[in-house]
Amino acid sequence: MKLFEKLWHGADYNYEQWLDRPDILAEDFRLMRLTHCNVMSIGIFAWSMLEPTEGHYTFDWLDQLMDSLAENGLSAILATPSAAPPAWLSQKYPETRRVNEHGIRQPHRRRQNFCYSSPIYREKIVALNTRLAERYQHHPALVLWHVSNEYVATQCHCDLCYQGFRAWLQRRYGDLDTLNRAWWSTFWSHRFTDWSQIEPVDPSMHSLMLDWQRFTSDQALDFFLAESAPLRQITPNIPITTNFMQPDVGLNYWNFALHVDVACWDSYPRWHQTDDLQTAMQTAFYHDLHRSYKQGQPFLLMESTPSVTNWQGISRLKKPGMHKLSSLQAVAHGANSVQYFQWRQSRGGEEKFHGAVVSHLASTDTRVFQDVQALGSTLEKLAPVTETTIQAPVALIYDFENEWALNHAQLPRSIGKNYQETCRQHYRPFWQQGIAVDIINAEADFNGYRLVIAPMLYMFTPGLAERIEAYVKGGGTFVTTYLSGLVNQSDLVFLNGYPPALRRTLGLYAEEMDTLTDHQLGQLRACPENPLNLNGDYEFHHYAELVHPETAQVLATYHSEFYAGYPVLTANSYGSGQAYFIAARTENRFLTDFYTYLTKCMGIENPLRQPLPAGLSMQVRANESQRFAFIMNFTDHAISMEIGQGWQDTLTGLQSTSSITVPPYDVVIVGQVL
Ligand code: GLA
Ligand code: ZN
Repeated sequence: MKLFEKLWHGADYNYEQWLDRPDILAEDFRLMRLTHCNVMSIGIFAWSMLEPTEGHYTFDWLDQLMDSLAENGLSAILATPSAAPPAWLSQKYPETRRVNEHGIRQPHRRRQNFCYSSPIYREKIVALNTRLAERYQHHPALVLWHVSNEYVATQCHCDLCYQGFRAWLQRRYGDLDTLNRAWWSTFWSHRFTDWSQIEPVDPSMHSLMLDWQRFTSDQALDFFLAESAPLRQITPNIPITTNFMQPDVGLNYWNFALHVDVACWDSYPRWHQTDDLQTAMQTAFYHDLHRSYKQGQPFLLMESTPSVTNWQGISRLKKPGMHKLSSLQAVAHGANSVQYFQWRQSRGGEEKFHGAVVSHLASTDTRVFQDVQALGSTLEKLAPVTETTIQAPVALIYDFENEWALNHAQLPRSIGKNYQETCRQHYRPFWQQGIAVDIINAEADFNGYRLVIAPMLYMFTPGLAERIEAYVKGGGTFVTTYLSGLVNQSDLVFLNGYPPALRRTLGLYAEEMDTLTDHQLGQLRACPENPLNLNGDYEFHHYAELVHPETAQVLATYHSEFYAGYPVLTANSYGSGQAYFIAARTENRFLTDFYTYLTKCMGIENPLRQPLPAGLSMQVRANESQRFAFIMNFTDHAISMEIGQGWQDTLTGLQSTSSITVPPYDVVIVGQVL
């Protein structure tokens, strides 16, 4: 089945909250047509309305909803309702409720509050999902399954989860001797002599806690697979997704990505609170990550707010233009949809003051409604964009398990390790130049990228150093930094320095690391006549590694502290490629200059081959026959840019002049036949 003939526009629609207001429900469909919506996500929190008492199912309202969607030309993204169990279930089957670290079973409350290991919970949701799939398998509205909602790695300490964890460890290590060795558990007398002694409650045992994180992620995935099984079986032609979030919820989404047909995520940037360019860059990074989960296939923006949230402490109204800009930023980075939480504001419950397309005022004469309406008609004009993708010449490794391991590590400076933020600091220069970047994990295939960047890649799983070596030997360019290549997959430190393949590739070894306090700054200086033409002085802070070059060439050195003169930037020619090492955490200006010179030397440019003025960002979606450039302005002043000849304004159809001006908080989309 071809998923996208048009860009999807829609929202989470909680029809079941309004069953006693047929007038409102009828109005909803009229408003959906007015806003050019073509899809709704439904049934996400509907378990208590679908199975009000055990084994007694009530699908009549969902039948009506599915039919009404189809009659009104809309498609359904049908959810499985596992994210919020009904009270009868939690009451009758206490084992389905989570147990906290102190062994206390949690009450039934809120949502996403159940144990992934519980066989009863699985049995109940599989029974319901089976009925959903059987009932709607041939329904014309059904286009996609939305399995559950925003899984997180839950910290459930019940007996079932502990048994599962111990079985997981037995599969991984075989016997306790191997486990004790892998965990270095002689330290502080932590050796285990029986599997039942293992409890994941000891933050001092980093290897144990890392494995527990892997297990809790695997357990969420196992639950997802269990509840998806009837959908796969009964509706093999209906694709499946589950909505991801920003990657700080303890899940290794790469493992989930193998089992979803399309990746999607829920994006809630905090516009207008700090620097909007910074927020835009961060959001771009997340969009690129979600595009990369399925190797560049289009993803969905499953949720975003049409106006404000009510859970971020502070949420500001979007300034005029921001709704369109923020929505099309997702499309620019590879999304084939713009969807909202939520269609209609609920009257009660925790999210009654969360923004919605239709507010409590219930008027079409609101700023938000009209923004959504205008965007809907824009998305219709952009339908040809669905045929295009993004080809990124650069990949940045942001690896979740590496992040977990780094988070546990007790370093000479443990404050402000900032792994994710550091990855974005290396991403920013490319975003500023309009050069597309895939955000990959360390297991990904590096071939196909001209440049691979691995900031703070602390953990090296088996084979990684060899894969990097082969990539560089074969002509790739690799950049890594301080705090890389220190430990193996069990958080055991490599003896004699880096893994040998990494040492050969970088042409150096590290000896020790200085750490600075928050207010201390060091200086570094580019070496005269270095091949990148870097020049001048820069600052570093937080981390400064002291390394010894073996075959690497020194391009910049420390210029302060007792280690003045030690290398801080090196390049090693290896095979047909190059490997760069950045020994310290530097100011952004250094990274901008370094990557600007590096991409220039390598001949990597943005697809327009035009410099991007400060304040604009650009992504290009293309196929063999056409391409579209999305040029976005996240500032409050107009900015002009040269784009060259032969472009047409995609929205107006007018021929573009070679220079365009992007108004404040706006986006210009130009297209070209190739
Ligand atoms: C999440 C959830 C939604 C809703 C929104 C509010 O993304 O998936 O159910 O709570 O947040 O922003
Ligand atoms: Zn449990």
